Amino acid sequence: MEASHDRIDVSLFARVWVMVSPVLERVGLATSRRRLVSGLSGTVVEVGAGSGVTFEHYPPEVARVVAVEPDPHLRAHARRYAARARVHVDVVDAVAEALPLADGEADAVVFGLVLCTVPDVPAALAEARRVLAPGGELRLLEHVRAEGRLGRLADRIAPVWSRLGGGCHPNRDTGQTLSEAGFDVSGLRTRSFPPVLPLTPILSGSARRR
Ligand SMILES: C[S@@+](CC[C@H](N)C(=O)[O-])C[C@H]1O[C@@H](n2cnc3c(N)ncnc32)[C@H](O)[C@@H]1O
Repeated sequence: MEASHDRIDVSLFARVWVMVSPVLERVGLATSRRRLVSGLSGTVVEVGAGSGVTFEHYPPEVARVVAVEPDPHLRAHARRYAARARVHVDVVDAVAEALPLADGEADAVVFGLVLCTVPDVPAALAEARRVLAPGGELRLLEHVRAEGRLGRLADRIAPVWSRLGGGCHPNRDTGQTLSEAGFDVSGLRTRSFPPVLPLTPILSGSARRR
């Protein structure tokens, strides 16, 4: 039997996400996902793996992916993608705030469009730090709060957006939170893609423990 957690159950958002993500892949997200995991090797933790659309992009040097996904509906889809992946993927029922790995077990921790939704980001980043091996890296592809007018608009729509979007926040300053959590963020870049809220701007790249 799988562990139960105090969190979202089979949500409407999960069902919508399964339908929407293939469309996002086609408009350019697939390229970003490939970049997100390129060059990785060894043991990788993918946090909030969703329906598993990133699995196909892992390079063969990756020995094992531990794909953490708390939503049962998305987990079921992820297991299907895992069965087709060219690397070994274990899809597990867990949350970012309590990763099922020993200290220093992971060569990389991957966050793709998930830190917008995780309820306790500092706790999730502390867990990422704990499980990363010395020299390990955190890989990131996250939408964050925009500057100026777009940012203020994101602040205004945040309550409704969060309710409709499975807890997604369009206005998190994830770069700042990473820095406060002790990561060197100089390897991260911000860019517009696509030019619509809440998917812009995107913060991506690699961060290491300071
Ligand atoms: C927008 S979806 C993105 C899914 C996937 N990473 C992708 O890029 O397609 C957000 C994901 O965060 C997951 N999530 C929400 N809270 C979480 C938590 N506390 N720990 C881990 N994942 C969480 C959701 O279940 C969902 O899979």
